[in-house]
Amino acid sequence: MDKLKLSRIKLLIASAALLLVLAVVFAGTSHVSMAKLAPETSEKLRHDGGSDYVTQCARCHGGDGRGQTAKGRQTRAGDLTKSRVSDAKGIRMITNGSGEMPAFKNSMNADQIRGVMSYIRGFRR
Ligand code: HEC
Repeated sequence: MDKLKLSRIKLLIASAALLLVLAVVFAGTSHVSMAKLAPETSEKLRHDGGSDYVTQCARCHGGDGRGQTAKGRQTRAGDLTKSRVSDAKGIRMITNGSGEMPAFKNSMNADQIRGVMSYIRGFRR
């Protein structure tokens, strides 16, 4: 193999490597700009309280909100499908606790508490 061919091959390898680096960088930045372009998507995820409800509330209030779990009966968690509490009062209860219901201000931020409140509103009939 002559010297010219060898340096051409080296050049080819170098540009392939450069392209690869550029592709990785571009993929990285396009991901970031996607998140910037669609704030409502991440907003929605943060406000969707469904997963917080399952991890924090369902042991008492039940997956369906009726409070028919062992812990729900024991603490008299009541039936969220029949609850008519205002958002403001519900959020206060979730934040600071009420009676047998624990406070959640140390385990969820304000966004998560709002999210879970709007989620449980969906139980109402
Ligand atoms: C340890 C059991 C328990 C857990 C966990 C629990 N709750 Fe409660 N919840 C209760 C009890 C008991 C009451 C009744 C409190 C009262 O009457 O003062 C209640 C009341 C409520 C009410 C008021 C209903 C009404 O109409 O008066 C809301 C809203 C509520 N809970 C939401 C939640 C949410 C959201 C979560 C999760 C973040 C949660 N609870 C977690 C036991 C629990």
